[in-house]
Amino acid sequence: MEKKLYKDGSHSLPAIIQGGMGVAVSNWQLARAVSRKGQMGVVSGTALDTVLIRRLQDGDADGAMRRAIAAFPCQKIGQAVLDKWYSSETRPVDKPYGLKPLPDIAMARREVELTILAGFVEIYLAKEGHEGWVGINLLEKIQMSILPTLLGTMLAGVDAVFVGGGIPVSIPPILSAFSRFEPAELKIHVQGASPEKDTRMHLNPAEYLPVYRARLSRPRFFPIVSSEVLAKSLVRKLGDAVDGLVVEHHRAGGHNAPPRRDQSYGPKDEYEPSRIAALGKPFWLDGGKASPEALQAAIATGAQGVQIGSAFACSEESGILKNIKNATIQAYLDGALKWVTDFKASPTGYPFKRVQFKGYADADDERPVCNLGYLRHAFEDAKGQIAYRCPAAVKKLFYAKGGDSKEAEGKICLCNSLLATVGLGQVNPDGSKRRPLLTLGEDLSFLDHLLSPPKLTYTVDDLIAYLTGGVPDATGI
Ligand SMILES: Cc1cc2nc3c(=O)[nH]c(=O)nc-3n(C[C@H](O)[C@H](O)[C@H](O)COP(=O)(O)O)c2cc1C
Repeated sequence: MEKKLYKDGSHSLPAIIQGGMGVAVSNWQLARAVSRKGQMGVVSGTALDTVLIRRLQDGDADGAMRRAIAAFPCQKIGQAVLDKWYSSETRPVDKPYGLKPLPDIAMARREVELTILAGFVEIYLAKEGHEGWVGINLLEKIQMSILPTLLGTMLAGVDAVFVGGGIPVSIPPILSAFSRFEPAELKIHVQGASPEKDTRMHLNPAEYLPVYRARLSRPRFFPIVSSEVLAKSLVRKLGDAVDGLVVEHHRAGGHNAPPRRDQSYGPKDEYEPSRIAALGKPFWLDGGKASPEALQAAIATGAQGVQIGSAFACSEESGILKNIKNATIQAYLDGALKWVTDFKASPTGYPFKRVQFKGYADADDERPVCNLGYLRHAFEDAKGQIAYRCPAAVKKLFYAKGGDSKEAEGKICLCNSLLATVGLGQVNPDGSKRRPLLTLGEDLSFLDHLLSPPKLTYTVDDLIAYLTGGVPDATGI
């Protein structure tokens, strides 16, 4: 379906946003299926470089990675990545994946190129063959890859940028600079650094794509917020640079915002949609909104619509391994699913919503040497140099770098576990596989409407038809 046009030539915004879900749960296939129905498909921007090189090491069976790389504006970069990572043979199941260097502030040119390319590939494929909306989802806390990922996705014509897990005031200037094909910069949080020290990463598009001189279209910018206070402060600070807001409730899957008080959510964590509406920006309500009634109720509050994650994560097109998806859905039907808002698991320090059920190998306090590094924290060491540590890595190493034992308690290596959930997990040195970890929102009642047992699957088309009563335009937009 084409994007609907207003009389002034601008495009109308969709009522349903498929939330970005990392790592590679909302991959290009899922986002494309949603966008083709006229709604907003969103690709996860987390760890796309590793996702790309693992798909290449797995032989790129359907040729999609190589097709997208062939469309990248600098073939020298594409070819170098293929030469290093592509294998035409199927990888033996007990062979560990080759690893790239961990992301850091002084990222080598080759790694910047890989990350630009990886962002391009995922959006290029999600946009292939239609004119619908395609967005990218970034986590503000995963800073090292933000600049190259944004450039890569803008080269592929990404329509919207969603940023959660922080206060994303630094993003709009980057979008403006890249749209003019000019250098951009990002201030990096360095723990323990004195306030006068200002650490920034820089990226000049012309340095990486010297023969490419086109202006890029500036994607819309949609921060993901969890409180009226943050929504108001972003709109006040950024004004017109905010194109709309996604307002998340702590029922949602993935990371949740920390509660305003102690370790449990209460009335102070609720928001009033009319106060968000008063900010005058389009907004979408998020968290447990996967029903036609919730969509209509959201619109009645003045919202543009809803953002939905779990219902798309459980659909056929998502990246979650089929056996995990089926077992989870069966456990839901059996009443055997347990939800935990885990306040300790995530190295980000944010609560993380886990689902667990008997017999399901859920990753726990399994501590590797950090070999992916997306959630490492940059800190200033005793010599005043910038160093990195992850509270989910081997404790001895974390403590040796001055890490606090309380911070390390209960942490899970999300990078490795989440890659295992989508079938891209690493093989351990003893030949065993990394264990997966699953996150879903607390309300899965959409399954009662979408499944016709014994069939445990449904498609994006089924879901959108259910949400919109079979007629996308019935949303009233
Ligand atoms: C499997 C999964 C992974 C998620 N990963 C991310 C993420 O990487 N970034 C993000 O902003 N939100 C993430 N979310 C949250 C979703 O984008 C969405 O906001 C949320 O799922 C909506 O609530 P619902 O699950 O009740 O529909 C994730 C959710 C799920 C279910």
